[in-house]
Amino acid sequence: MNPAPSLPENIVIIGFMGSGKSTIGRALHQRLGYPLVDMDQIIEQRAGQSIAEIFATLGEPAFRDMETALLKELGEPAATRRIISTGGGIVGRAENRTMLKNLGYVVWLHAPAAVILARTNKSHSRPLLQTEDPAARIQSLMAEREPLYQESAHLKLDTTGLRCDELATGIVECSRYFFNNRP
Ligand code: S3P
Repeated sequence: MNPAPSLPENIVIIGFMGSGKSTIGRALHQRLGYPLVDMDQIIEQRAGQSIAEIFATLGEPAFRDMETALLKELGEPAATRRIISTGGGIVGRAENRTMLKNLGYVVWLHAPAAVILARTNKSHSRPLLQTEDPAARIQSLMAEREPLYQESAHLKLDTTGLRCDELATGIVECSRYFFNNRP
């Protein structure tokens, strides 16, 4: 029997829009010196359009296909020692959730709906929140997604009351412990 392929030493950050994935990703990149892979940014660069434009011109399913294709690409060949920051909806597809778990140590950044609303309500870059009632949209998307983040994550971090550097320290230490203690 072939031995199970080992998990690459990536740190993969998941969580709702506005949970701080990009900010924490940058802090981890500075702390560890690992390259930062921001999936939304790569999708925008490749498409030559912002996420909002992709949703408007090609539609959400086309964006989701780009997201899944990029995730596949990141898993093969399994490069290691990167910080991978994902878009908030990446956990929607079951195949994505499986790929996430095989891509590295998956950290779920959690924040309450009120905090998410406050952080996202001035930005127009998130098409899913451009509705009459963003608070209701956040509530319903969160209810739908929380079990999926839970299923995908090795670690859930409640970001309430913690500074970025404290969160980064927690993630570095937990990931080190995780990678050193795998069977
Ligand atoms: C989305 C989150 C966004 C971006 C797109 C869809 C989502 O990323 O991928 O607008 O479905 O939650 P952020 O979580 O970085 O805002």
